Amino acid sequence: MAHPEHDPTAAASSAVGHDATPSPDDGDGLRGRVAIVTGGGARGEGIGNGRAAAILLARSGARVLVVDRSEQLAEPTVARILAAGGDAAAFVADVTVEADCRAMVDAAMQRWGRLDVLDNNVGIGSRGSVVDEDPARWQRVMEVNVTSMMLASRAAVPAMIAGGGGAIVNVSSISALRPRGLTAYSVSKGAVIALTKAMAVDHGPDGIRVNAVAPGPVYTPMVAGNGMSPAARAGRAAASVLGTEGTGWDVGQAVRFLASDRARWITGQVLVVDGGATLRGPERDPGTDH
Ligand SMILES: NC(=O)c1ccc[n+]([C@@H]2O[C@H](COP(=O)([O-])OP(=O)(O)OC[C@H]3O[C@@H](n4cnc5c(N)ncnc54)[C@H](O)[C@@H]3O)[C@@H](O)[C@H]2O)c1
Repeated sequence: MAHPEHDPTAAASSAVGHDATPSPDDGDGLRGRVAIVTGGGARGEGIGNGRAAAILLARSGARVLVVDRSEQLAEPTVARILAAGGDAAAFVADVTVEADCRAMVDAAMQRWGRLDVLDNNVGIGSRGSVVDEDPARWQRVMEVNVTSMMLASRAAVPAMIAGGGGAIVNVSSISALRPRGLTAYSVSKGAVIALTKAMAVDHGPDGIRVNAVAPGPVYTPMVAGNGMSPAARAGRAAASVLGTEGTGWDVGQAVRFLASDRARWITGQVLVVDGGATLRGPERDPGTDH
């Protein structure tokens, strides 16, 4: 470091009464951190949004509790992380159940002694208008997509505060921004955005950042499991301005960024990961300017 007398930046800043802002290092600050990823499992070798986030967080040196409702779904994620030299464990929980959310946080604390990151990734789909929708199904979508995030956060926040802060990433969807006939799902994902902003305000003073990722149509086991034709996949790719199909990895990268110290001054935001699909509207008359 240059001596202040020979460093014009330092001289200028001391003249206004503060030190020069130190430049950040290139690490993402995730080494040694402890993360919980809900819905971190996936069928077989498929790459869901949660599995991708868990693997990427582990690659950055985080220890990851991979939570899913079935061990069979969570284990392959853990196996991939361990095979690559990372640290992870599977935990079976239904995140719509408060006791399960508490047990999940306790498991991370007992195993690794702290909790820094929560990726609230669990979500289920639903199709149809309010007229089509079965009220019981509506309730279930709200429970799985919204209440689960409240319950998991409710259990995680005190543990994060005990460790000096943390980062929560809630997985929303572009269906909240551009509805298209999946009304219960859209409403639930809109609530996820409101929850994110409210929690960012509530817990910012505790050093906890809360952000959301809004993925576009990415090809995950959930999508594949519903049986998607090559033509439908091509249509989804064409819906983006980049003309390419997104994957769980694209969503996982956004989650890792928002969970990391690189996003240290970002909170209450929604990062849209959709290849530009939400920029698109119907084709208009090319002869008009607006
Ligand atoms: N795939 C897409 O195109 C897309 C687009 C926008 C948003 N999303 C969102 O991304 C998230 C993950 O999507 P995905 O496509 O990877 O889904 P996925 O179904 O492949 O994976 C979700 C995992 O969550 C688990 N899960 C479901 N309910 C649970 C519960 N109550 N408790 C514990 N685990 C539970 C499932 O077993 C599954 O392993 C969801 O919130 C979804 O709404 C997906």
